[in-house]
Amino acid sequence: MESFIIKGGVPLHGEVTISGAKNAALPMMAATLLTPERCVLRHIPNLSDVQFMGQILTSVGAHVQIDGDTVTVQAGKIKGIGDYNLIRKMRGSICILGPLLGRLHKAKVSLPGGCVIGPRPIDLHLKGMRALGTQIVLQQGYICATAPKLLGAEIFLGGRNGPTVLGTANVMMAAVLAEGVTTIESAACEPEVVDLAQFLNEMGAKITGAGSPTITVTGVGELHGADHVVIPDRIEAATFAIAAAATNGQVTIRGARSDHFQAVLDKLREAGVTTETKSSALVIRRAGELKPMDVTTLPYAGFPTDAQAQIMVLMTATPGISIVTERIFESRFMHISELARLGANIAVEGPSAIVKGGSLLNGAPIMASDLRASAALVIAGLIAAGTTRVNRIYHVDRGYEKIDEKLRALGARITRVQST
Ligand code: EPZ
Repeated sequence: MESFIIKGGVPLHGEVTISGAKNAALPMMAATLLTPERCVLRHIPNLSDVQFMGQILTSVGAHVQIDGDTVTVQAGKIKGIGDYNLIRKMRGSICILGPLLGRLHKAKVSLPGGCVIGPRPIDLHLKGMRALGTQIVLQQGYICATAPKLLGAEIFLGGRNGPTVLGTANVMMAAVLAEGVTTIESAACEPEVVDLAQFLNEMGAKITGAGSPTITVTGVGELHGADHVVIPDRIEAATFAIAAAATNGQVTIRGARSDHFQAVLDKLREAGVTTETKSSALVIRRAGELKPMDVTTLPYAGFPTDAQAQIMVLMTATPGISIVTERIFESRFMHISELARLGANIAVEGPSAIVKGGSLLNGAPIMASDLRASAALVIAGLIAAGTTRVNRIYHVDRGYEKIDEKLRALGARITRVQST
């Protein structure tokens, strides 16, 4: 296992280029199963989760080639059974269910299970598939789904905590080859859903309304191959923007879509950070003492849960009391106990974390628990005095392409070492 050794206290300066969005790439790779023709996806980030999705597609019979940032998939002849052990390891793999059902009218996929950020139910995915005419039984850890015929339907996909991102993607992918019209109400509006809908349309699907709470899918007989460039990763961009502010540096972020993470930029501005667009890049710079923040995570276009841990680190550097309320995954606070090891003063009250910020963090050995928590711990290491060792960084490699190289290019003293 590998760890990062970070010598903190260096403001980040320079330019960083944002990679393709992991959370757009994964469902899009799954969508390639909908056609026997060749699909090419470009601007795909080089991440372990992408490699993993490649293995899952291979396990159902697709030919997958990953060449730099381009993934080519040809799913000529495929089977409806995904490899149990592969699928249960990555939650994102649930989104092969929709394409397998759409193409083969049957699928046997392992239940994805929970993870450290809390229970991760899939009831809404299954509700959507059932509404399209699928019979589903859960057997020995598998979702066994069969649909003699997929028929368009009106489906309400809102859950306790709002819409579901992968659930919307999954139902949309099953519905493109269904007979008739499907309307998804309370659909997720995330840019990754919009990008997936665009890719599906490029494959010959008829989807309108993606990006709004009502998505309409008019079923077609078959899809064909397509060549698509994936959107930039808004969470990677948000992470670098927060890191620039937290270290009191100045970073030019290239290749990001600032319209995709306005909620984060807005909070940064409220905190006293300048966010300026200059020749199609975004320049992030702290404009004086930081001001306390009050952040609530919400479905898009609200503040993303995937940037909650990172903004909390900025709060530890902000004099006064800041509050984070997590409304998507209530127990997504694993990073707090690790931040406490660095001296952060954070109390949890139900879904809220109260951060008393302003005193300098001190380096210590800490452990990454999930992807975004790991990114937060890296930022904490960058601002802490002395040396921080972040263990179990395979979590960060799941979602951030070469984060250590990108940070080093900005002046950070971060090295990757083998854990002892
Ligand atoms: C996607 O997960 C992302 N994953 C997550 O990113 C992200 O945190 C999440 O959306 C929210 O933005 C990928 O795209 C691969 P949800 P997803 O279904 O789709 C509840 C990261 O760090 N719910 O939108 O699985 C659920 O419990 C990851 O990159 C149900 O109740 O999340 C949650 O409270 C982690 N029933 C809320 O909906 C369901 O059937 C939103 O979850 C499904 C979800």
